[in-house]
Amino acid sequence: MLDDLICGRAASELFDGDAGVINPTIYADRRIYEQELERVFARSWLFIAHEKHIPKTGDFFATYMAEDPVVVVRQKDGSVRVFLNQCRHRGMKLCRVDRGNARAFTCSYHAWAYGIDGSLVNVPLEKESFGPDFRKADWGARQVPRVESYKGLIFANWDDTAMPLRQHLGEAAYYLDALLDRSPGGTEPIGGLFKWVIPCNWKFAAEQFASDMYHATFSHMSAVAATTPERAGKPSPLPGRQFRSPRGHGTGFYVSPGFDSEWRVPQTGHAVPGYDAAAVAARHEAHNPSRNAIATQHMTVFPNFSFFAGVNTCRVWHPRGPGEIEVWAFCLVDADATAAEKEQLRQAALRTFSPAGTFEQDDGENWVEIQRVLRGFEARRTPMNAQMGRGREFGSDPTYPGSVNNAYNEDAARGLYAYWLEMMRTPVRAQNQGQADAGE
Ligand code: FES
Ligand SMILES: [Fe+2]
Repeated sequence: MLDDLICGRAASELFDGDAGVINPTIYADRRIYEQELERVFARSWLFIAHEKHIPKTGDFFATYMAEDPVVVVRQKDGSVRVFLNQCRHRGMKLCRVDRGNARAFTCSYHAWAYGIDGSLVNVPLEKESFGPDFRKADWGARQVPRVESYKGLIFANWDDTAMPLRQHLGEAAYYLDALLDRSPGGTEPIGGLFKWVIPCNWKFAAEQFASDMYHATFSHMSAVAATTPERAGKPSPLPGRQFRSPRGHGTGFYVSPGFDSEWRVPQTGHAVPGYDAAAVAARHEAHNPSRNAIATQHMTVFPNFSFFAGVNTCRVWHPRGPGEIEVWAFCLVDADATAAEKEQLRQAALRTFSPAGTFEQDDGENWVEIQRVLRGFEARRTPMNAQMGRGREFGSDPTYPGSVNNAYNEDAARGLYAYWLEMMRTPVRAQNQGQADAGE
């Protein structure tokens, strides 16, 4: 049974998928946000790190699952564990560095020490002060019960009854492969992580990367004019497609083999010596021709992992209240790419999608201004339109799996909000019933 009310409001009042209407209070109401933490984030597959962020035993990477700090650690047997970054004594943050290699994690407050598997291994004055009933085995760091990877990307889920990650991705995996499976060597992250704050709701970012090819022509006009003036102000002449997943994922892309490789040079402002766009395209074409045709792709894996292929920026939109996100972004390359290709990509990503990136500024400004408008009482109850493409769906394409339409569309946005609403309406204990029924 799904709840009809969400935080005292009729569910259909918050989002009406048939009509394509959004109630903007979903971006601004703190009670809705708190329910998202419980009903969406605490039972979704959330991106944690790339496998190559932690290649060796003891390598760790500290991140977040929504607002909960977690640490992912490579174990002796090569497996990966994720545990809550919270000491079980008085709750101090256990690991206070971003990443590194450790043999143990020692709390800075009273020095309880935990092994790389999260078990409590040492308590100062244990014998003298804690008595015979104290059992260290009961006080290990809290483990995230489900950790699974897809082609190098590690995801974790607090819900031990959740469907497997691969099943959750469903047909979206095909489109994820356009980033992850273009080359025989797989992928690796390069450079560091960019972390910055944007005062906006997480759904603006997630939705845009899932669904919004529309804004690019207009919001990014000056960035395009500066790099590829012949394209400024015009929708792309390339054919495009958009995919809508039944579980909130979405992607849009142009269809043009090799276009991404060429696109990196103008976005960088110059060609890095040795960079050979034709050779990159040929490698991709030889390995995975169907995915090679997917170019300049935006995608969100529900709820908050997104990427923009072409310059291959990957990011998590960590929610920080209804009106703020922390963006954590890194650049992903083919592991077997040449040094020149990696450098070309790194520079292109820096210049376009990074805290100082030209395109990034355009997107962030839109989200921030919308959020500011939503301070207004009347603004928060003025419905928003998400009807683009409605009634004009063709719904399938023999080349691409799943529900597919024209790239200039809001069908994937409607899919994201429909799945969000379903999760928000699903009481926590009955949580997996509907998902299992909807399985592919
Ligand atoms: S809070 Fe960690 S040892 Fe006391
Ligand atoms: Fe954008």
